This record gives sequence, structure tokens and C-alpha cells, in this order.
Amino acid sequence: MNKIFYPIDKRQWSPSLIPGPVVLISTANKSKEPNVAPKSWISMVSFEPPILMFSGSKENTTENNIIETGCFAVNLVDSSIADTVFRCLNWHGRERIEKCGFELVPGSAVDAPLVDNCRAHLECRLTETKEVGSGYVIFGQIVAASIWDEIMKAELGRRYKMLDQVMFLEDGVRGRIDTSVKTD
Ligand SMILES: Cc1cc2nc3c(=O)[nH]c(=O)nc-3n(C[C@H](O)[C@H](O)[C@H](O)COP(=O)(O)O)c2cc1C
Repeated sequence: MNKIFYPIDKRQWSPSLIPGPVVLISTANKSKEPNVAPKSWISMVSFEPPILMFSGSKENTTENNIIETGCFAVNLVDSSIADTVFRCLNWHGRERIEKCGFELVPGSAVDAPLVDNCRAHLECRLTETKEVGSGYVIFGQIVAASIWDEIMKAELGRRYKMLDQVMFLEDGVRGRIDTSVKTD
């Protein structure tokens, strides 16, 4: 296999070498005003306790709300709502929620709403924030999780297909996880 040099600037990657799961981060501010924003730089960082991180921006409503209230929810995006999610940046705040038809329901364990259109949710409590390069990383402990019951009724081999998770690849290009293969 012959290798050639590749850019170190992620913006030039085609194909992307680090795809990210597309999620909606739902939050509310102290006055209970809700907000929903897509993110794809997100990963688990700890099993015990279960902690995830996502990389955002200091000025955004999402991060401001999380710092104000200490909590947020992660809502997994499937291909049935992917077009809407990629278009949602045309609006902000409540207008974004209304124009996109995001249905909000209360979280079970945190004071952040869940986006009911999504098939799975992780409710998180803020543990810390960290500035890393141009990024602003939010760490959250997962305190509750929920998933569409039909997925859990399906046989193991169909569950990923039903979750149908959308992955951000590069600007204007996305993927989806609709196939799973059992490893030995
Ligand atoms: C598919 C997708 C993935 C995104 N991923 C991220 C991300 O990982 N980090 C980030 O800071 N912004 C990301 N953005 C951009 C934010 O969603 C955007 O800045 C948004 O307007 C922030 O909204 P807010 O001010 O309501 O929080 C992404 C946008 C899209 C459409």
C-alpha cells in the first residue's frame, strides 16, 4: 500500500478521517427559554462515571445556557430529520425550534428539554469546561438515558439500522450507520 501526504487541516479532508455523530444539544437558560443546536464533535471520555465531551464555541447560546444551568441533553439525529437539522442554522433560538418542528419534552433527570423527534437521548450534568486551541470543550456526566422502545424490541442485528445514526463527514457530505457487523 503506497501512502501520500494528506492535509492536517480538517477543513480540507475529503474523505474525512474523523467522522462525528450528528446530535442536537438541547438546553434552557435560567428563565426556561429553550434552545437546540446541532453538534458533531462529540465523544465519550470516561466509563466510571459516564462522562462525554463535545466541542463548541464560547459565544454560542448552547454553551451559555449550560454554564447558567449546569445541564444539557444530547439527542441523536437519524436520517428522517437530517435535512431539517442541517438547515436549522438558518434560524436561531425559538424561531429555529419552531421552523424545524422540534418537539420539546421535559428531561427526566435534568432541567434541559429533550427533542422528542429523536430516537435516543442522553441527559447530562456539566462537570467542567476547558479551552483547547480554538475549541471550547464541555464535559458532562450522563445521569439518564432513554431510547425508542421499538429499537430495544428489535433483534440485535437490526438495532443500529433502526437507530439510523447520521454522521458528519465534511461540509455538504454526511453518512449514516445503517449496517452493523458482529466482531468475534
Ligand atoms: C451538522 C452540524 C454539526 C455541527 N457541529 C458543531 C460542533 O461540533 N461544534 C460547534 O461548535 N458547532 C457545530 N455546529 C455549528 C453550530 O450548530 C452553530 O454554531 C449554531 O448556530 C450554534 O447555535 P447556538 O448559538 O444556538 O448554540 C454544527 C452545525 C451543524 C449543521
